[in-house]
Order: sequence, then structure tokens, then C-alpha cells
Amino acid sequence: MTDIRNELQARIADMEARRAKVEAGGGPERQKKQHEGGKLTARERIDALLDPGSFLEFSTFVEHGHNRLMQGVDAPGEGVVTGRGTIDGRQVFVFSQDFTVLGGSLGKMNAQKVTKIMDLAAKTGCPVIGLNDSAGARIQEGVDSLSGYGEIFYRNAIYSGAVPQLSAILGPCAGGAVYSPALTDFIVMSRGSSYMFITGPEVIKSVTREDVTFDELGGADVHNKKSGVAHLEYDGDEAVLAGLRDLLSYLPQNAREKAPLKPTSDPVDRPNDDLLSVVTPDQRKPYAMHDVIHSLVDDGTFLEIQPGWARNIIVGFARLNGRSVGIVANNPKVMAGTLNIDASDKAARFIRTCDCYNVPILTLVDVTGFLPGVAQEHAGIIRHGAKMLYAYAEATVPKITLITRKSYGGAYLAMNSRDMGADVVYAWPTAAVAVMGAEGAANIVYRRDIQKSDNPEATRAEKIKQYKDTFDNPYVAAAKGYIDDVIPIESTRQRLIQTFEMLEEKQEQRPYKKHGNIPL
Ligand code: HXC
Repeated sequence: MTDIRNELQARIADMEARRAKVEAGGGPERQKKQHEGGKLTARERIDALLDPGSFLEFSTFVEHGHNRLMQGVDAPGEGVVTGRGTIDGRQVFVFSQDFTVLGGSLGKMNAQKVTKIMDLAAKTGCPVIGLNDSAGARIQEGVDSLSGYGEIFYRNAIYSGAVPQLSAILGPCAGGAVYSPALTDFIVMSRGSSYMFITGPEVIKSVTREDVTFDELGGADVHNKKSGVAHLEYDGDEAVLAGLRDLLSYLPQNAREKAPLKPTSDPVDRPNDDLLSVVTPDQRKPYAMHDVIHSLVDDGTFLEIQPGWARNIIVGFARLNGRSVGIVANNPKVMAGTLNIDASDKAARFIRTCDCYNVPILTLVDVTGFLPGVAQEHAGIIRHGAKMLYAYAEATVPKITLITRKSYGGAYLAMNSRDMGADVVYAWPTAAVAVMGAEGAANIVYRRDIQKSDNPEATRAEKIKQYKDTFDNPYVAAAKGYIDDVIPIESTRQRLIQTFEMLEEKQEQRPYKKHGNIPL
């Protein structure tokens, strides 16, 4: 009996020793280096991300395949920590690459750990969060490593739109490895300690002779302000992880559910009097659309997505009486809120993200049109602008459009007009719906009258006024039913909440297809 008990004790001690070795990752020296770089370790990140004590680890004792080049190589935990936990009590699956073990490089068995939790997430209908900090393909494993990436990319794609997939970039993410985060719904980067690129500074130098640092090439600022690859950036790992928790709170567990309700003490009928001093009928006076958004939503809280890129359009999440909504709004302060290629891409992607995850969409319109210019035309504004039209038409979630001021031409349609599938369209008394602005319109329609006139400038001014008197208001569109109601600015919050509640159980079926063919 004693022998058996001793044997049992020995086995338990052996398991604990093995587990402790895995949990120690690459050891204290490498962990110290990680901390000196301003970064948390893979396990510290998991602890900071999840509700305390909720993490269950899987594949703890997985080892690499011991191929010829990997004989005798020690890789505790295979360079990645995987498992499940909860965030605000909701189950999520997580993988956290361990840079202290072979630089977090990805080999066959490392990838298998990741795909296992991705499959569990899909089967149980839960989000997947990837914490990326890796030197890329494990060079010693050759094609097995590439295959590992393939298995992850494949799942990123087939689970896209089924369960939310969030990526944090907290260190290197280079080469083909960038395509796993790129296939997920959101990329959140840490400023100063993360970078993403396909080919690094050395290769670039040898091919194009350009000199560039890691940060200048693919740091958080680059991808949040220039390339539009990333969605959010924060200073340091803790802030990124807190950002992921916040972002997740606006999303459901999967495509069959709705985002959780977050009760608020902000009254449904809180008047928006503040907006009376923000918005003016003077079309030339830009105002802060951010102020409009903050005034309308619960507690003034707005999580703006991609705030530094394509700033002529604003997208992000907020809540109306506790219910998550996605907001798409023109920004009259940047490029007069015109739509260009980047703005179209940004909005289209966001609209599709909301639609995947049953988040209703509020569109705030103040737009003069698409941005004119040879560069825009030659770079394919037609192809890119079409994405927005497509995304709105395709979206079956509740959609409310509010025209705050001007809404002209093709951009009127691209900003989800009634014809493009808006369920309800409202306008403020300051709104104007027309094919174009009064000056341009008068110059075209009354060109002959102006040319023939003894006093062309006076005639021009008179024709502009005439055009404005006719079209510079919401009532022509309202008279034809394109606008459902012209509403008082002060009671907008209440009206939006009532209308989204009306649309809460909206169902919309589409004809059978494999999938649509969105212009790309
Ligand atoms: C295996 C690797 C590795 C790799 C680094 N290590 N990269 N092991 N495969 N790809 C190991 C190092 O030997 C070292 O081990 C440890 O990880 C940390 O690396 P360091 O170089 O000491 O770290 P640091 O100075 O911080 O530099 C980080 C780095 C650098 C800039 C990422 O390691 C680097 O350039 N690595 C190569 C990156 C790369 O070319 N990857 C392939 C990209 S192509 P010890 O034992 O000393 O701690 C690719 C294709 C994917 O990923 C295709 C998918 C379709």
C-alpha cells in the first residue's frame, strides 16, 4: 500500500515538475529581457487579459516534432500558451505566443496548439483572441512550419464571421505570419514594442536601397495612421489587453447572438440641447461630428475604431440604452467629410463587421460627395466606393440613417439612403438633400442665363438662392418619402433609442447564393 502511495506521489511530483518547467518558458534570463523591452511574458499577458483565475490551459505538454534540426532543442510549451478563460464572465479562447521560447517561432506542433483552440472556439461559439509576439516561421522546421501557418490561416478564414477573432500585436509579427492577424476582425498594436511587415528593413535595403527602421516600417503608428492595417493602438501591453476587453464588450459571442446589454443610468429621454450650439445651418461652418456622437450615446462613451486613419469618416462602437451600436459618420472637419478611397474601405469593412455580429448600424450623414481628383480616379475610387454601397445593401442588421446637414449626390446613396436599405431615415431641420451643392448646381443648370445676363454675378447669386430655396432643406426628400421624419435636434437620442427598439427583432432574408461578390 505504501509502495502504491509512494508511486502515486512520485507521479504527481513528476507532473508538477513537468508543468513547472513548461510554465517557466524560456527561463528567467529571457523573461528578464522581455521585461526590459517593456513587454509582459506570454503568461502574464493571459493573466492581465482574462478574469482572475478563469484560465484553463490546454496542450500543456505538447513538444515539437524532434526533426533532424530540432534534435536536442528544448522548447517548453512549444513557444505558445493556449487555453480558455473568461472576460466579464464570457468564455473566450486564447493563444499567447511565448517569445522567450525560440523567439515564439511557429512550428508544426505550435500551430497545432493554436488550431486546437480555434476549433474549440468555433464549436462552442466563442471569440478567439491571439496575442502575437513571434519571430515567424521556425526556420529549423521548414515546410512543416509553413504548413502550420496554412492551417491557422485556413481557420481564420472559415471562422471569419462565425466567431469574433481579435489580434493583439505585442512584439514582432513579420513575413507571411502577418496574414493570420490580417484575416481576423481587429488588430490592436502596442506602441513602440510591436511591428508588422511582409519584408523587413534588411531585405528592403538590399532590394530597393531604402533605409528604414522597424518602427518606421511597420510600427503601431504606421499601421494605425498610414496603412489602415490596424484598428487601435495603445501604450504598453496592459493597455492593449484592457483595450481588447473593452472592444469585446461591444460584440456578441458568435454570429447567432447579440452583444450583451450594458445597463446605463443615462436617461433615454436625456435632451441633446448641447447640440443646438454645435450644428449650424451654415454649410461652410464645419462642426465636430464627435461632439454629436458623444451627445447621443450612453454616457458619452464612444470606442472609435481606426481613429487615426481615413479621418474623413468616423467609425466605432457605442451604446444606446445599453444596446451596442456601430456608428458610421462623416467628419466635416477633415476634407469636408468627402468620401475617398481609404474612407470607403474603412467604412465598408466596419459595416460588414457590424453585420457579421448583429450590431445595428447608425449612420450620421454630412457629406458633399466623393473626393474629386485624378489620383483618386486612377487609384480606383469607383471600385472602392462600391464596397460601401455593397456593404450597406448587404447588411441585414437594423439600420438607421440620420442626415445632420448636407447629403449630396452619390455619397447620399453611399451613406445608406432609404433606397440602399436603411430601415428608417431621419433628418434634422438643418439637413439638405440634393444632387450637388447650390453653387455647382446653379453654374450648370443656369449657365446660359448667367452667360447672357448683363450682370452675370448678380444672376449667378440669384440662381444660387433660387436653387437653395428649393433644395437646401430636408422637405423635398421628406415630401417624396425618402426621409421618414424631420426631427427636433434636442430629442434625437430618445428618437434613436425608440427606433432601434422598434427594429430589435428585425428579420430580413436574402436570395440563395454561395456568397456575394463584393468589389475588392
Ligand atoms: C527559430 C528563431 C527564429 C526563427 C529567432 N529565433 N527567430 N528560432 N526560428 N525564425 C530564436 C533565436 O535564435 C533566439 O534564440 C531567440 O529566438 C530570440 O531571437 P533573437 O534574435 O535573440 O531576438 P531579438 O534580438 O529580439 O530579435 C528578434 C527578431 C530576430 C528581429 C525577430 O530574431 C529575427 O530577425 N528573427 C528572424 C525572423 C525571420 O526571418 N523569420 C522568418 C520570417 S518568414 P535563443 O536560443 O538565442 O534565445 C516567415 C514566413 C512565414 O515567417 C510564412 C507563412 C506563410
